[in-house]
Amino acid sequence: MTVPFDSDRVTVVDHPLVQHKLSILRDEQTGTKQFRDLIRELAVFEGYEATRDLPLEDVSVTTPICEATCKKIAGRKLAIVPILRAGLGMVDGLLDLIPAARVGHVGMYRDEVTHEPHEYYAKLPGDIAERICLVVDPMLATGGSAVAALQYLRKQGAQDIRFLSIVAAPEGLKTVLDSDDAVRVYTCSVDEGLNEAAYIVPGLGDAGDRIFGTL
Ligand code: PRP
Ligand code: URA
Repeated sequence: MTVPFDSDRVTVVDHPLVQHKLSILRDEQTGTKQFRDLIRELAVFEGYEATRDLPLEDVSVTTPICEATCKKIAGRKLAIVPILRAGLGMVDGLLDLIPAARVGHVGMYRDEVTHEPHEYYAKLPGDIAERICLVVDPMLATGGSAVAALQYLRKQGAQDIRFLSIVAAPEGLKTVLDSDDAVRVYTCSVDEGLNEAAYIVPGLGDAGDRIFGTL
C-alpha cells in the first residue's frame, strides 16, 4: 500500500495476515470479543515492526549441543503509552511482545461537535526521557488526539516516540507528521479520508465503543 504523500517516517504494516484480520475488524458484524482480540493481535504485528531497530548485543548461551554466541536486546528501555480509552486495547498485545515495558497513560476524548481533543488524565513513567515510547491508539482520524498526546510527551522529555495506529486517515497522518518532525508512525492502513463527522472512511466505526462494548 502506498502512503498518499512522501514520508519515510510512515510504515504501513500490510502483511497478508494483517490485511485479513483488518477486514474482519472493519466488518460491522464482528462482535466485541472478536474485535478486542483482533486489536490485540494487530498491535503485535505493529510492535514487531516498530521495534525492528532495537540494538542487540552478543550473549553466550549453552545449548544442549554446545556453547554458542547469540543475540539479546541490548537494554534499550521501552514505554507503551495508550491514549485512553481505545489505546488500551493494544497494550496487552505489546506487553506479550515486550513484557518488561512500562506503561504510561494519556486520557483524551474528542469533542463530538468540534472534534477537538480534551486531555483528562496523564501518568507516565518517571524516566520517560530515556525510554522508547510506543504511543498507541487504534484510530488516527483528524490527528488532534495524537498531536496533543505527542506534545504532552515531548514536554515531559520523551525523545524517541513511535506512534502506532491500526487505521489512519491521510489528513490526520499529515497533521501528525507536520506537528512533530521526529515521530515515526506505524499503521495497518491509510484509508480514504474522513466523513463530515470526522470518522475514518471506510474505517471501522468507533474503536473505543467496539472494544469496550459501549455502542
Ligand atoms: C477516538 C480514538 C482516538 C481519537 C481519534 O477516541 O480512539 O483517540 O478518537 O480522533 P482524532 O484523530 O480526530 O483526534 P475518542 O475520543 O472517541 O475516545 P475513546 O477512545 O474514549 O472512545
Ligand atoms: N474515532 C474512532 O473511534 N473512529 C473514527 O473513525 C474516528 C475517531
